[in-house]
Order: sequence, then C-alpha cells, then structure tokens
Amino acid sequence: MKEQRTALPRVIWQSIFRNPLPETDLERSSTSFTNFFLHIHPVKVHKNTLRPVYTLGLGLMSLFLFLILIVTGVLLMFYYVPSTTQAYDRMLDLRGTVAFGIFLRNMHRWSAHGMVAVVFLHMCRVFLTGAYKKPREFNWVLGVILLLVTLFMSFTGYLLPWDQLAFWAITVGTSIAGYAPLVGKEMQFVLLGDTSVGQEALLRFYVLHVAVLPAALVLLIAIHFWRIRKDGGLSRPAPKVMEVFQKKIYGLQGFVRANFTKVGNTPDESVYTWPNLLMAELFVFVLTVSAVLVMALLFNAPLEEPVNAMHPPNPAKAPWYFLGLQEMVSYSAFWGGIGIPGLMVGLLLAVPYLDRTTHGVGRWFARERLLANTLFLTLVALNVIFIIIGTFFRGPNWTFVSPF
Ligand code: HEM
Repeated sequence: MKEQRTALPRVIWQSIFRNPLPETDLERSSTSFTNFFLHIHPVKVHKNTLRPVYTLGLGLMSLFLFLILIVTGVLLMFYYVPSTTQAYDRMLDLRGTVAFGIFLRNMHRWSAHGMVAVVFLHMCRVFLTGAYKKPREFNWVLGVILLLVTLFMSFTGYLLPWDQLAFWAITVGTSIAGYAPLVGKEMQFVLLGDTSVGQEALLRFYVLHVAVLPAALVLLIAIHFWRIRKDGGLSRPAPKVMEVFQKKIYGLQGFVRANFTKVGNTPDESVYTWPNLLMAELFVFVLTVSAVLVMALLFNAPLEEPVNAMHPPNPAKAPWYFLGLQEMVSYSAFWGGIGIPGLMVGLLLAVPYLDRTTHGVGRWFARERLLANTLFLTLVALNVIFIIIGTFFRGPNWTFVSPF
C-alpha cells in the first residue's frame, strides 16, 4: 500500500503545535491544555472574569507594563554603564547618537511610572470589590509585597541617569530611610555602600534594579498567578441557587430524597478560555503597548544637568510616589518617614485578617462594605492629597507656593 506523505512544512508546524486552530469545544480544551503559554490558564473561566468593568484589566496591565520594562530595559543595558564618570554621557549618547535611543528610554521611563500607578490602582480595585477575602488572603499579602517591590524597583532605576534629578531624589529618598529608629542609619549605609550617594550607591542600585528586584518580581508574579488558579479563579459574587431547584424534591424509588438530582449543582456560567479570555487579554495588551508608544512619542524622559554634589536644587524632591512621604517628613521626620508609612504597610498586610467577614465579595462598592471602603478611600485620598501638595505646592525651602 502506498504511504501517504505529508509536506515537510506541515510536519514541522504539527511537531510544534499539536492541535489545529480549535473549532470545537474539545479542541478548545485541548489547545489550552497542551500549549506551554496557554496552560497557565484554566480551560474555562467564569463569565465574571471577562467583565471589563469588574477588573478594569488592571492586573494584566501591570503585567504587560512589566514585560515592556524588561524588553526595553535589556536593550538599554547594551548601552548603559553604571559608573559615575560614564553614566550621564551614555544618557546623552542615547539621546543623540543611538538609533531610537531616546524612544527606548522614553518607553522605559513612562512604563515605569505607569506600572507604579497601575499596580496601585489594581490594589484599589481588589480592595473595593472585597476580593482580598477568604480564600484570597494570602494572594492579597503577596500583592502588597509586589507593590513594595515595584516601588523599590522604580526607585532604584531613578538614580541610574546620574543627573541632578536622580542624585538629589535618591539623596532625599534614602535620607527618609535613615529616620528609622535603631537601624535607620545602618539601613541607609547598606543601601548606599557609603555615607552619601556616590559610585558605590550607583553600583548597588544598578545590581538591584537589573537583577535582584526583577528576579524577585518574576517569582512573586508567578506565585500570584498560581494562587489565582488555586483560589478558584477571580472573585465573584456567591452564586444564587435558583429557587426552582431548591423547591423541587426528587424521590428515587423511595430510597433517596434530595433537593435536586445533582445536589449543590449550580447553572454553568463558565466560558472557554479560547477565544474569550485570550481575546480580552490581547485587547489589554494592545491598549497598554499603544498607550506607552504614544507617551514615548509625545514626551521625552527628563534629563537634567550632570550631578553636582555641591549644588542641591531647592527644593530637592523625592520621586513623585514618595512625595507624600516627603511632605509628611516636613512635619515630623520620624512619623512622616517611618511611623505612618510603617503603620500603613502593616495595616495593608493585615487587611484580610482584620476583616474576616465573607459578604460583599465580587461587587464594586457593595453596600455591606461601606465602612471598610470608606476607610480605605479616605486613606487613599489623604495619600493623593499629600502627593499633590508635595508635587505642585512646595517651593524653595519647602515653603508653600501657588502653582498658578
Ligand atoms: C506587579 C504587580 C501585580 C501584577 C502583575 C498583578 C497581576 C494580577 C492579575 C493579572 C490578576 C487577575 C486579573 C485582575 O484582577 O486584574 C490579579 C488578581 C489579583 N491581585 Fe494582583 N497583581 C499585582 C499586584 C497586586 C497587588 C498590589 C495586590 C494587592 C495588594 C494584588 C492582589 C490581587 C488579588 C487579591 C487578586 C485576585 C483578585 C480577584 O480574585 O478578584 N495584586 N493580579
């Protein structure tokens, strides 16, 4: 009998992708199951996962911004040298001579600011929908750590251009750490490798920024996603068992009595990951990349004068996300720099263990959660107000100025 031969390109294609583009439900399941990148998803997800107004896509946006940061960051590493005598010149090269250098730097800079803001907003959405409650307590805690690592990641990157902005922002930022009781000065010294910001600090910040912290983020994000699946997918309101099922009593030959033939079964509200979830993810990806591209085209990342350790700008300001802290430090060094931020982080970590009720999950601003949501939003508003004051209303010697 003559053997049927398949064309070589087809053989190669099939050796990589075991399934054709799925058309039936069985093929959809099989594709999700056998593809390395897709099998991170379950075969089916609850409809609630796909409601754009529920998640606002913020978790995914955080992930995609991180991926953009890795790609642009690695490309920038081909040019950057973490040396106080070369770093600034390399920045000028990126601006002037390297093809697309300025564009690359803009993308990296705006994604970094974007990631800090979006991760924070994602945390707000998780809180305001009560999604930190059982069984997601530990994933919330992981999330708080992710937020802290993201902030630290952005902070360490701030120093690398080695211009006046970088130098003084980090000088102010690390001096805030120095206010911690007992270990403050030691912590500052370990961070800077010296008593002031210089070559040792630049090298330490560089290693933290390009190796230690990204590796920590990759690991933590992997555990974060794994937990989402183990916790049963995204949070959603508790299913309403339909009354008709509750009332219907079946008797099987008089031996078995139960409410419903399949007790505890609820209507299936899940949809296939392929193509529903994947299309939604693709949409968020395109949106995130487009936003970063537009920002990078329209606005250049700042680059000020080269470092002059003798000439601090007045006022010297920390990066914007720490300006709330700096504003509080101007009232009380200890409470502003350590006491209140420490309490805030402690409170955030403890949230799911303090609020152990199970109601109001899976809905924005659920009435049952009025108190918790009001407290949370008050703290968020205070933080934002302090950042706005620090950014726009503070002038030389940290005196009050009008931005208008
Ligand atoms: C690098 C930072 C982060 C990334 C990449 C990330 C990513 C994600 C993604 C993709 C989801 C599912 C989709 C969504 O809810 O939008 C998610 C869910 C979740 N995240 Fe994050 N996240 C990050 C930080 C945080 C933070 C700061 C918190 C809270 C403090 C947090 C807590 C949670 C929780 C509890 C869920 C489950 C939500 C639910 O079941 O409704 N995550 N995260």
